[in-house]
Amino acid sequence: MKIIAFANQKGGVGKTTTTANLGAAMADKGHKVLLVDMDPQGNLSVTSGVKAHELEITIYEVLKEEIKINETIIHVDRPNGDIDLVPSNLNLSASETVLNAKPGREFLLKEALEELENEYDYILIDCPPSLGLLTINALTAAKEYIIPLASEYLALYGTSQLLQVVDIVRKRINPDLEMLGVVITQYDGRKIHCRDIVEQIQEHFGDKVFKTMIRSNISLTEAPSFGQDIFIYKDSSPGAEDYRALAEEIMKGAKV
Ligand SMILES: Nc1ncnc2c1ncn2[C@@H]1O[C@H](COP(=O)(O)OP(=O)(O)O)[C@@H](O)[C@H]1O
Ligand SMILES: [Mg+2]
Repeated sequence: MKIIAFANQKGGVGKTTTTANLGAAMADKGHKVLLVDMDPQGNLSVTSGVKAHELEITIYEVLKEEIKINETIIHVDRPNGDIDLVPSNLNLSASETVLNAKPGREFLLKEALEELENEYDYILIDCPPSLGLLTINALTAAKEYIIPLASEYLALYGTSQLLQVVDIVRKRINPDLEMLGVVITQYDGRKIHCRDIVEQIQEHFGDKVFKTMIRSNISLTEAPSFGQDIFIYKDSSPGAEDYRALAEEIMKGAKV
């Protein structure tokens, strides 16, 4: 069972898009996939076609230890491979204050996922855009993390804070945590500044940068509003092609 967290405290860099579509690509390849939405915005849940705001049980109740994680799992039917989802909604935004009082508060997600034993090949955790307790829970539960970086001005700004948090988590809580890689998203090869930024990212992260870059593609923006992943929404799009390639790269364990 591979548990991967998608983390970057910056919003809009492609965490949710990457979690949803990588999960879908892996499911299409026959893997058992669980997506875990750790963002109070619930974007991953909505992208998966779930009416998140109507839900009364979510990851929040699991973290509060009121219910078992099994009870929150929503089964998402897909033509070539179903996916399971642990949803979230705005109720989770109270978590930072409510969960803070709990001893061992960093381990709540890890303990919940342990109840699942080995039911899944991949568990993908979508983090919120912050470095607070929810992201720390994700980094504690995960074996690996992926940093999505949008190819935009100041892409690298803030990554040192993220890496500091990772270091602290490794030192105090989860020594096995490893960076699986950095994925460049929203890439537009026609733009000089995009190419410059990619060079900067590659200089900074070296062979940790995935060979596959996710191009900027309107279908990736549109798909969530239909509650669909890119393969259901538009299988022939560049977005589908890129996420399929990224999934292959990750499943093979190959980088650059
Ligand atoms: N490669 C891409 N091409 C075009 N739009 C994208 C791409 N990746 C993400 N988006 C869009 O950018 C916005 C932010 O992406 P999202 O995955 O929600 O970021 P995050 O979860 O890091 O906040 C969303 O509207 C999403 O649909
Ligand atoms: Mg998101």
